[in-house]
Amino acid sequence: MHKRRLGQTDLFVSKICLGSMTWGQQNTEADGHAQMDLAVARGVNFIDTAELYPIPPKAETQGRTETIIGNWMKAKRNRSQVILASKVVGRTANTWFRGDRPSKLVRADVFDAVDKSLARLNTDYIDLYQIHWPERDVPWGANPNRIGAVPRRSDAAGVPEGETPIAETLAVFGELVKAGKIRHFGLSNENSWGVMRFIAEADKGLGPRVASLQNAYNFVNRTFEVNLAEVCEREQVSLLAYSPLAQGYLTGKYDHGARPQGSRSQLFNRGQRYETPNAAEVQLEYNRLARTFGMEPALFANAYVSNRPLVTSNIIGATTISQLEMALSSADVVWTGEMQKAVDAIHQRVGNPCP
Ligand SMILES: NC(=O)c1ccc[n+]([C@@H]2O[C@H](COP(=O)([O-])OP(=O)(O)OC[C@H]3O[C@@H](n4cnc5c(N)ncnc54)[C@H](OP(=O)(O)O)[C@@H]3O)[C@@H](O)[C@H]2O)c1
Repeated sequence: MHKRRLGQTDLFVSKICLGSMTWGQQNTEADGHAQMDLAVARGVNFIDTAELYPIPPKAETQGRTETIIGNWMKAKRNRSQVILASKVVGRTANTWFRGDRPSKLVRADVFDAVDKSLARLNTDYIDLYQIHWPERDVPWGANPNRIGAVPRRSDAAGVPEGETPIAETLAVFGELVKAGKIRHFGLSNENSWGVMRFIAEADKGLGPRVASLQNAYNFVNRTFEVNLAEVCEREQVSLLAYSPLAQGYLTGKYDHGARPQGSRSQLFNRGQRYETPNAAEVQLEYNRLARTFGMEPALFANAYVSNRPLVTSNIIGATTISQLEMALSSADVVWTGEMQKAVDAIHQRVGNPCP
């Protein structure tokens, strides 16, 4: 499988990254191991996880996904062949991550997070350590409560009260690099201001330069293209695109209000992000378009993300091996100008119904 350079680092990651957030809840440990075996056999060298996983987040399951990956790497003795990405939670009121307190992007919390992740992963370094979501109170897709939130102004000290300064957080990541606990630093669910601010602080020598940005990117959410695409291209920050199938809504299985037994949406009712006004009819349109090209909607939607020049790696998700097979085969689809034109024609009319 083709590999692409991760930001300005010396790492080359496969154009498909294996997502893991179903392992430990919707999928068993054996399922997770089988998925990693297959993906690696097909040339994937990049696995994405988080201290938060599995999804949906719960105190009693938190960390299981990393343990599953750690057990697999130990059994296979293949740590050096895998590029491993994990994440520390942004600001959260949940106390179960740190054991006794809410979590913020301050030194004690980030060190606690990384040490626990390293232990679960059976390793002494993480290749790419990402901030899962900003500590700032800004809207981002997975948190609809924040939609409409007005960004806060800086006060005399430079940041709104209660917020950890970006320089302070970045310095902690610098310490982690120096200590050898992580190799590179990435952001997730971040906006243009945040990416540029982290770069500005790194340019002052306060910490590592951001290598990548992990944000949602799919037919119904191309908001990345508006501002972040230029930021990332000019600053050499890699887009790691997540939820290429809009969590299953671009597979056709939820069309016409269907909710198949055992699907993520039926099990966890977490579909709100992709059930915004107008979303269903737009998803139906893309799913129909796929069939006019003789392709399954899931293959078509994954092929778009896997082959889009602004994407460095497509973080795919699968609950079954046959879904994984299809997602992996999207790397080999020849994405034509005709396909792009047809997709763009819909996009121009409907925009981003699921930002
Ligand atoms: N940074 C972040 O905030 C963030 C957020 C989300 C995801 N991620 C990362 O991105 C990875 C992928 O995200 P995602 O799982 O949302 O990706 P996705 O590709 O949009 O959705 C994957 C889900 O779609 C369904 N599916 C896949 N192929 C199918 C097919 N051929 N037919 C029918 N249904 C199919 C499966 O769910 P069913 O169980 O319904 O079958 C599968 O688990 C995650 O594991 C995680 O690593 C990061």
